[in-house]
Amino acid sequence: MKNVFLTAGLIVMTYTSVYAQEERTPMYLDDTQPIELRIQDALKRMTLEEKTRLSYAQGKFSSPGCPRLGIPELWMSDGPHGVRAEINWNDWGYAGWLNDSCTAFPALTCLAATWNTALSADYGKAIGEEAVYRGKDVLLGPGVNIYRTPLNGRNFEYLGEDPYLASELCVPYIEGVQKNGVAACVKHYALNNQELWRGHIDVELSDRALREIYLPAFKAAVERGHVWSIMGAYNKVRGTHATHNKLLNNDILKGEWNFDGCVITDWGAAHDTYEAAMYGLDIEMGSYTNGLTSESEFGFDDYYLGKNYLKMVKEGKIPMDVVDEKASRVLRLIFRTAMNRRKPFGAMTNEHHYQTAYNVATEGIVLLKNKELKKGQVLLPIDAGRYKKILVVGDNAVRNLIVGGGSSDLKPKYVSTPLDALIEQFGEKIEFAQGYMAGQPMYGSEEVISEAVVDSLRNEAVAKARNADLILFIGGLNKNHFQDCEGGDRKSFNLPFGQDELINNLLEVNNNMIVVIVSGNAVEMPWENKIPSIVQSWYLGSMGGVALRDVLTGKVNPSGKLPFSYPAKLEDCPAHYFGEMSYPGDSVKQEYKEDILVGYRWYDTKKIKPLYPFGHGMSYTTFSYSKPVISSDVVGNNNSVRIAVKVKNTGTVKGKETIQLYIGDEKCSLLRPKKELKGFCKVELEPQEEKIVTFNIDANALKFFDDVKQKWVAEPGKFKAYIAASSNDIRGVVELEYK
Ligand code: BGC
Repeated sequence: MKNVFLTAGLIVMTYTSVYAQEERTPMYLDDTQPIELRIQDALKRMTLEEKTRLSYAQGKFSSPGCPRLGIPELWMSDGPHGVRAEINWNDWGYAGWLNDSCTAFPALTCLAATWNTALSADYGKAIGEEAVYRGKDVLLGPGVNIYRTPLNGRNFEYLGEDPYLASELCVPYIEGVQKNGVAACVKHYALNNQELWRGHIDVELSDRALREIYLPAFKAAVERGHVWSIMGAYNKVRGTHATHNKLLNNDILKGEWNFDGCVITDWGAAHDTYEAAMYGLDIEMGSYTNGLTSESEFGFDDYYLGKNYLKMVKEGKIPMDVVDEKASRVLRLIFRTAMNRRKPFGAMTNEHHYQTAYNVATEGIVLLKNKELKKGQVLLPIDAGRYKKILVVGDNAVRNLIVGGGSSDLKPKYVSTPLDALIEQFGEKIEFAQGYMAGQPMYGSEEVISEAVVDSLRNEAVAKARNADLILFIGGLNKNHFQDCEGGDRKSFNLPFGQDELINNLLEVNNNMIVVIVSGNAVEMPWENKIPSIVQSWYLGSMGGVALRDVLTGKVNPSGKLPFSYPAKLEDCPAHYFGEMSYPGDSVKQEYKEDILVGYRWYDTKKIKPLYPFGHGMSYTTFSYSKPVISSDVVGNNNSVRIAVKVKNTGTVKGKETIQLYIGDEKCSLLRPKKELKGFCKVELEPQEEKIVTFNIDANALKFFDDVKQKWVAEPGKFKAYIAASSNDIRGVVELEYK
């Protein structure tokens, strides 16, 4: 009995002391004061319960702040291609609001294909404006996981296979978002390179692959983009879940990179209270769900950082400075976002946002092939005056490709489809045949389409093709499960829904055909040598139809370049070359056996010819490159050299070209890729105009990660700098030496 009184007495005393403190310092430090002082001020006022309560969700997309002190909630939203529609408080259903539609921006693969950092800044600013208008504090994007296999269901949300390209493009996006007082949340840290078994697959890889390939974009997001939050991935890394992983969070992210923001779990990615507390997790979201569809009976206090965390702190199993540090990070995020009284108003679905979406879409589309039929005659750009009937074939000409795909699903206010846009311009010249049936987005299964439907759609398309002057095939993948969609990988490299057969059948009656692939991944093209013109389009967002039409018709000259290599066959792809343990693993473990040789690093080094190389993309004009000139051929630790090259538009229409700089180490004590991207520059040129493009090369561009010394090292000796139009189209080489 005595004990009970004593405990009750202590509780009363705790509350008395909190309120007593309140009276002594009644005013908060306002926002004229440095954030760090305000954090300390807030912490002093908070109870242990309030501090720990900051670290887990109160609903599907929010965490509670501290209501007693008026510290507001944090509201989060997907990401990364637009601000997602409102979701119910505690289930995955959409809330059915009428004011939550958005501008759908092109998928991040398209942004990567623009190779345009200024466009990335526009993209970030525009999406950030929509987020702040919608009352969001954290935008769950961008995704920067490296494209390791074309089967990964989520590559469309990422920035391609090269760490340098992904780094350069994610930084302006993050800065653009955060200008609005909205945190970007770079995801999924780290090594979530496949969706199959994403919740538990344990990734084993070398330190070099980790540092040289998979971490640089995250590092750039933190050190250069100053990102305010980062999302821990679902998978395990070297035995421990990534979201509470000592190596990733404590040692690298918060240790080496000095990250001062919050690590937020992916939804349901936490698995252990002690690890979550000790190994760097700051906010836990979505526990006991799969982040997409499954719910459970557990309440929020049952989260790993919920009551069990509080209990372990009280028992002395988790030190108080861990609690204070976590709470400080969450408070810092709240002060930067929800409690930031100086953020701009934001803006919703305005003309500027649609223009940004259009610019990214048109600049990202890649012209893969445009072979001459006769001297000087190509199918692209479409010269409509030459044709009486243009037959558009394919489900992706009419499908809304903004819905589906998992958490990046959006409710766009406006969508333009390619067929609508083409009819708008060419009216009755355009005829349409769906050609194949692609089914509806569903999780966990695929719609079965009857043979009769398949045959009748195909027959209709083939019949119409006989009488058409030109066929424009618009197919590819879509956002259904097991296509470009979260929660599963593609089951094969081929085009789905019988499209390969359909293309062959169409070719038998009419080979005046352009193929447009809409996807976020490379696909197998067994008919490639029979098709004169091929375009890689992406999920282009709200302005997709108009953008694709304008590129196909030459209103906009294509300037996109592939952000990943297109292998001729799946077995050529490095992740698949080493068999199942490398991809997809045995469901428990996997080992990245290709090591640092990801993407073009592999094709180059192993001399395997890809169907289309990384960095490839054609134009309706041509560009010539002068011989590159180097300012000095010696690079030291304190001096850089400059390479200059003159690029000229030698054709008759205005165009943009991305000039790429790759560096190769001629001799090294360990294996290095033949060459690696270390610079790029996109220029616009009028016909006959020329511009000088320059690149600086310093010692950093020559380094590899030495896993014995655990640091970045450049070995003295000879290097080559390649000036290129793609990883396989080298226009000039200069030698240099590192001393
Ligand atoms: C996804 C994240 C997403 C989160 C919230 C998860 O399923 O992996 O990328 O941000 O859900 O929707």
